[in-house]
Amino acid sequence: MKIIRTRDYDDMSRKAANIISALMTMKPECVLGLATGSTPIGTYRNLVNRYLNGDLDFSGVTTVNLDEYKGITRENDQSYYYFMNHNLFQHVNIDLNRTFLPDGTEPDALKACDDYNKVIEAAGGVDLQILGLGHNGHIGFNEPCGEFPDTTHLVRLTPETIDANKRFFASAEDVPRQALSMGIGTIMRARGIVLIITGKEKAQITKQALTGPVTPSVPASILQYHKNVTVLLDSEAASLL
Ligand code: GLP
Repeated sequence: MKIIRTRDYDDMSRKAANIISALMTMKPECVLGLATGSTPIGTYRNLVNRYLNGDLDFSGVTTVNLDEYKGITRENDQSYYYFMNHNLFQHVNIDLNRTFLPDGTEPDALKACDDYNKVIEAAGGVDLQILGLGHNGHIGFNEPCGEFPDTTHLVRLTPETIDANKRFFASAEDVPRQALSMGIGTIMRARGIVLIITGKEKAQITKQALTGPVTPSVPASILQYHKNVTVLLDSEAASLL
């Protein structure tokens, strides 16, 4: 694991964008694994600016997102589809036919998971996976549990995650109880991973994930076993390391 301490959120976001830009330059037809949440917003803003400056070309890029809430439509402004469009896709020259998220509206969740696994497989796997860190150590929506799920699966969100994510909804009752998430196995098969972490409320879980035992009760701890992970974190998130 390469752990890089950055000055602050902006510095972290620029450095994450540097890594993504380098890959896009070297491999214009790369497959990017994308994340949602508040942490990557600055990274996406940097990518958009670089595109607008003429430095980046998204025309050959394929994207696969980590997760999607179950039961909310793409038009819903809380869907991760909406988030990605709003924060990245609609601002760059990406082919929307090559942007993928699990289908949260498919009533048959097993089918939605299976379809998504096939999409990732057909894309040839993920070249670079961007990850944020949940307050309870989750990555994507892989919640703390007894084992590391391999591929895309239906998740029952924990009360902690519902609580952490209610800030994006009108109330905690509005937060969907279930989601579809890429599995830990798929994440671990990505050829490279960038984990971005910011803020002092993540300091404790950061310490557990990066330096504690590898356990499915802290899902991000599995990243200690990946051969090509770069962790970019600001000084607050790094304060207990
Ligand atoms: C959500 C997402 C995760 C994300 C996490 C952290 O639950 N499913 O992929 O990493 O939130 O969000 P934030 O970056 O807002 O702390």
